[in-house]
Parts: sequence; C-alpha cells; structure tokens
Amino acid sequence: MTHPVHYETDGSIAVITVDNPPVNALGHAVRAGLVDAFDRFEEDGAAKIAVLVGAGRLFIGGADISEFGKPRREPHLPDVIARIERSTKPVVAAIHGAALGGGLEVALGCHYRVAVAGAKLGLPEVTLGLLPGAGGTQRLPRLAGMDAALDMITGGKPVTPEIAAEYGLIDRIAPDGEARAAGLTYAQELLAEGATARPTSNLTAAPATKDAATWDQLLEARHPGQISQRRAAEAAFGATALPFDEGLTQERRLFDTLMESPQREALIHAFFLEKRVSSLPELKDVEPRPLDTVGIIGGGTMGSGIATACILAGIPVTLVETTPEAAEKAHATISKNLDGAVARGKMSAEARARADLTTTTEYQALSQADLVIEAVFESMNVKRQVFGQLDAVMKDGAILATNTSYLDINEIAATTSRPADVLGLHFFSPAHVMRLLEVVVADNTAPDVVATGFALGKRLKKVAVRAGVCDGFIGNRILSHYRAAANEMILQGASPYQIDAALERFGFAMGPYKVADLAGLDIGHATRKRQGPRPGVVNPDWDDRLNEMGRLGRKTGRGYYVYEDGAQEDPEVLAIIDEVRAKHGITPRDIGDDEICNRYMAAMVNEAARVVGEGIAKRPMDVDAVLLFGYGFPRWRGGPMMYADQTGIGTIRDRIRTYAEANPEFWRTAPLIDELSETGRTFGEMNQ
Ligand code: 3HC
Ligand code: NAI
Repeated sequence: MTHPVHYETDGSIAVITVDNPPVNALGHAVRAGLVDAFDRFEEDGAAKIAVLVGAGRLFIGGADISEFGKPRREPHLPDVIARIERSTKPVVAAIHGAALGGGLEVALGCHYRVAVAGAKLGLPEVTLGLLPGAGGTQRLPRLAGMDAALDMITGGKPVTPEIAAEYGLIDRIAPDGEARAAGLTYAQELLAEGATARPTSNLTAAPATKDAATWDQLLEARHPGQISQRRAAEAAFGATALPFDEGLTQERRLFDTLMESPQREALIHAFFLEKRVSSLPELKDVEPRPLDTVGIIGGGTMGSGIATACILAGIPVTLVETTPEAAEKAHATISKNLDGAVARGKMSAEARARADLTTTTEYQALSQADLVIEAVFESMNVKRQVFGQLDAVMKDGAILATNTSYLDINEIAATTSRPADVLGLHFFSPAHVMRLLEVVVADNTAPDVVATGFALGKRLKKVAVRAGVCDGFIGNRILSHYRAAANEMILQGASPYQIDAALERFGFAMGPYKVADLAGLDIGHATRKRQGPRPGVVNPDWDDRLNEMGRLGRKTGRGYYVYEDGAQEDPEVLAIIDEVRAKHGITPRDIGDDEICNRYMAAMVNEAARVVGEGIAKRPMDVDAVLLFGYGFPRWRGGPMMYADQTGIGTIRDRIRTYAEANPEFWRTAPLIDELSETGRTFGEMNQ
C-alpha cells in the first residue's frame, strides 16, 4: 500500500498531502502519517511554511467512520491536531471539495485557511450521533464566535466558503482551480508578510447570545429524544466557560459517552446502509441497459411526481394521459413542481429552460423510450390493458415498469410478450421528494433490467432497495401489518390521537392515523377490500364509517382529524369508535404509551422478519432502509431491525407471545424471530 500522507517541498514551502481515497478519511495510517510529516516539517530547515492539502476530490471527509466501535489506536486525532497546531512555523490548510468533521477540525488546527470556491465546510458529527471530538467544539467558537459555532456544531449542516469567511472560519476564498495552487499562492504571500504560527487555541471565543440552559431547551424541542445535539452544545459552551485544555477534556468525555450510545450505533448503521443497500453483489458484473429517455403512463399524483424527478435529473420525459385535458393538467403540475425546484435552488434556471417534457394521449409516442413507468389507477384490469398497449408499441429491449403499490407484478408481466423486461419501480409520494425507491424483481425479470432500475435510482439520487413480489412488497406489506396492530389497540381502548402522539414521541415523523389522513382514507379502504379478511386482523368498522361519511382525510378537510388550523382531534370520531367497541361488546381498557409503542414495534419487527425470512427483502438492512427512507422511521433508531437488535430479539418474541394470548392468529412469531432468539444471532449479523 502506498503511504497515505506525502511530504515534498516547493522552494521554501512544504506541501503535505493526505492521499487516502475515496474521501481521505483520517484512519490510523493517515493520523500516523500526519504526525511524521509535521515532525519532518519541523526539522526541515529549508521549509519555512507548510501547506496541507487533500488529494482527489476533497480535502478530508472526517474521521474514518469504519473504525468506530473498534479498539482505538494511537496517535489519536486530537493529538495529531495538537501536533499540527504546535508547529513553530506557520501551517496553511488549503481546502477544496469538502472539509467535514475531523477534516474541518484538522483545518482548524492549522494556522491559516484558504478554501476553493464551492467547497463545503462543516461538522456533521451530530448526524452520526456524535459531537466533534477532536477539538472542533473548542476551536470553532474561538474563530467564529459562539453563536455561529453553536449553529454549525448542533445543526451539522456544512457552510459555503462565503459564509465560512463571514464567520472568520477561513481567511480567504480562492475563486476556483486547484487547492494546492491556492495554498502555495497564499503561503508565498504569508512568507512575504513575515507571518508566524497562529494557534487557534490562543484565541478567546466571543460569547453566546443565548445561555447554555436556553440552548439545551431549544435543542430538546428541535430534536426530541436525541442526545447528540444537546451534548454537542454542552461541549461547545466549554469554549467560553473553561480554559482550552479543560474544554478539550470535557469534549472528549462527552464524545466518549456518545460513542457508546445506541443512537450513535443506529445513525452510523443508517449512514452506511444508505450506500450499501443499492449495491447488490449479484449485479456487480451486470451492465445496465441504456437509459436516455423515459416514458410515463398516467399523470396523477405519482406520474407527475416521477416525471418531475426524472426531469430534475436531466432525463427527457414523455407522459401519456387518457385525455388532452388530463395531459394538460399533468403538464401544469410538473411545470409547477419544476418552478418550485428553481425557487428553492434545487434546479438552475438553465436546466429549467432545457427541461424536456412532452405530454400526449398517444402511446405511439413511447415507441423509442428506453424505459416506461406505468402509474395509472391501482386496478389489475386497467394495468393489464396498459401493458398490452405498451407491449404493442415499445421497441425491443425497452423496459416496462409498474409503480403499483400492491398488485402482483408477475401477473402484470404475464400480460406481455416480454416478461423478462418487466419490473416494479415503486416510488413514494411525493415522488420527486421521497428518497426511497423499491426495485421490485419479478420471477422472470432479467438481471440487466434490475441493474437498470438501480441505475435509474442512482441518477434520481434515490435510495434504491431490492424487493421481491408479494402483496405490498417490503414497505406496504409491513405497513399493513403494523397498521392492523394499531387498529387492534383502538378496538381495545386506545384513541387514534393517543397512538399518533405516542409514536411521534417515539420519533416517527407522523403517527399512523395522520399518515392515513394524508394518503386518503379511501386508499386504505380500497386495499382492505381487495385483501379481504385476514387471520386475526380486526376490521376497522370505524374506518368504513368515515369513508361513508366522505371523511377521506386531508383532501376533504376531515378524516381522523379535522383540518382547521392544523390537525384537530374530533369527538365525533371517538364517538363512532365507541359505538364500534360497544357493538363488539368490548369494554375499553387503558393502554399506556409504552404498550402502544411496544405492540406497534413488535408487529412491525415480526412482519419484517417474515419479509426477510421469505426472501422478499434479501437482508435486514433492506427493511431498515425502506422504513427509514419511505415511512418516516426515526433515523436515530436505525430502522426496525436495528431497533429489534438493540431491544433484544428475545424480548420482542416474549412480547409477541404475551399479545398472542388474546389474538393468537395475528400474533404468531415469525420463524426467523424464533430462530434468532434461540441461537442468539442478530439481524445485524445477517447483514454481514
Ligand atoms: N469514513 C469512512 N468511510 C467514509 C467516510 C468516512 N468519514 N466518508 C465516506 N466514506 C465512504 C463511503 O461509505 C463510501 O464508501 P463506498 O464507496 O464503499 O460506498 C465512500 O467513502 C464514498 O463516499 P460517498 O459515496 O458518500 O462520496 P461522496 O463524494 O458522495 O461524498 C462526503 C463525500 C461528502 C465526504 C460524504 O461521504 C460524507 O458526507 N461523508 C461523511 C462525512 C462525515 O460525517 N464526517 C464526520 C465523521 S465523524 C468525525 O469526523 C468525528 C471527529 O469529530 C472525531
Ligand atoms: P391518480 O389517480 O392520482 O393518477 C392516476 C392517473 O392515471 C390519472 O391521472 C388517470 O387519468 C391516469 N390514467 C388512468 N388510466 C390510464 C390509461 N389507460 N392511460 C393513461 N393514463 C391513465 O393515482 P396515483 O395516486 O398517482 O397512483 C398511481 C399508481 O401509483 C397506482 O398504482 C398506485 O397504487 C401507485 N402508488 C401510489 C402512491 C400514492 O401515494 N398515491 C404511492 C406509490 C404508488
């Protein structure tokens, strides 16, 4: 292996380069290499100043996250940075691409900083359940002042060089070009000025406008249940309350506490799975098919969103609707979405002007499309008709995809003469916003068709997850099950509002009944009717009543909630539920928040274990990705499988057994839950 830190001189300037692809992470070899390089610089009489740069596309992407949880090896990062800062000759950090986490902390330990335009500078540690643990909480406030530092440290979002310069975090911006050249130019100027070493730790931090207690309350309200933001603020306040060394010691202590926390484990799991789920070993050597033009059938909620997503990624779209009016309406919706993207800075005005969208009523217009995604009504008859027409007009080798939520893709594929070219591409609403894409592989789908589904996911910047065919694939199948568990709790005595509130406190973005109102109660109703009775699943008669009353959720202003000044609880809904309970002869009982969360999660984990056991999801992490990126599962809990591992699979099994006493048909443990509790293995181990 070549050494990941290089030392060379350019006249009287030492250039120290971190060269550890892909992101120059500060693994053990880099840390050791940096200490050696700065020792050498100290002794190199010819070198009067040093420039620290990163090779490749960025400066330094942070500590090596894959080392977390393993035994630590010296030199530790804070000591490496202290070594750099202690240099008796000046050191310049020349930043391009990104300086994140430990990467920015290294730059803060240098004496001068120049950033190339377009670089990102930030301390994202809180998003990994950590805090900047290599002096970032002590040095950043000394350069930028407490207010700006607290925003960066607790928010985790990187800033541009312009903002960094305004904060005093960098000394200058190089308009463009190479970091090395920018660093050399700056170093020459500093030499000419006779600049000296300038340790950040010698500075005094400008105090915060709000005190520590106020920040703590604010962060608890902003990130309920999460600990990293609050501990990060606590550490940062050491910059004004304590001498530098004591502030560092406190930072390290708090960092170590977070390192041991389940939230850190869950967030790092989420970081890696976001990248890992989309790379399937079986597709390693499979070339995707060309993907230059996309056709879409149906321009309703989903079709318009999918078209928007494709155009945002620069892919030309032809959309087919049933009537010119519907085509016109879809065109208007997509145009509005794109204008919104421009307004929010997600699309440039030039790209907007280039947007290539055709809306039509003619299937023939799709004859040259590489891929067509069908998003018409959720009816097998309508879908059969559409796939028949597609089969007749599409060119050989084109891919036919369906966005169905639940229907059998094998049956859809069988209506064509080319089942190998058919797959499911299941987007989530709004399709141009939600990150998840389920790539549903049917019995006969060809590997290069699957690979093209993943290639599309990548171009659309989605988290693409492989799923097999079953009713609802991974996400909606599990959803049907945990929704049934929630309905069972309503029948027994909980209110939908209590269930939503408990689960929102658990961390879900929205409780299940708010989600139902958002999706439209008619949708869930139609799915239940299609599925028919299921063993042990209570029919939510109150939901049928709400549908009959035209209370379809947000779109009609009323559903479980009344939508006036936000979502309001409604006594009328509670009265209907009471009537249903009376009809079944049920005396409602008190159900506490813990029981609500435990039952809901047990149902979710149990069905997820079936989904994995049956091979619908290949790995537990695929389920975690689906719930995290499509169903509002709290990222800091890492997904249902990580939750199960942290809670103990045996504990979940015992809970299921207890619930089964009243409803054995619904609460049957999945074979995989039994197997793992007996062997002591975890879902996490199955991901390896
Ligand atoms: N450690 C280890 N591996 C890392 C890494 C890190 N800090 N950052 C990225 N990687 C890996 C990715 O997992 C990926 O691996 P793969 O190719 O096997 O999937 C590979 O590097 C490339 O990453 P991306 O695909 O994300 O590359 P991009 O160019 O899109 O983005 C990036 C680069 C902006 C640096 C992005 O990777 C990123 O945001 N990384 C995390 C940055 C971060 O959170 N740093 C803080 C770490 S914690 C810390 O520093 C603690 C300190 O305070 C003590
Ligand atoms: P929608 O009712 O908003 O839109 C369907 C559109 O298809 C209508 O505009 C209709 O005119 C058009 N259409 C019907 N038959 C057609 C045909 N033969 N040719 C061309 N256009 C035709 O429905 P929505 O919500 O967009 O759903 C579409 C599909 O996406 C369904 O299969 C649904 O299950 C699935 N889906 C829906 C999600 C949602 O949250 N709404 C999420 C994920 C998938």
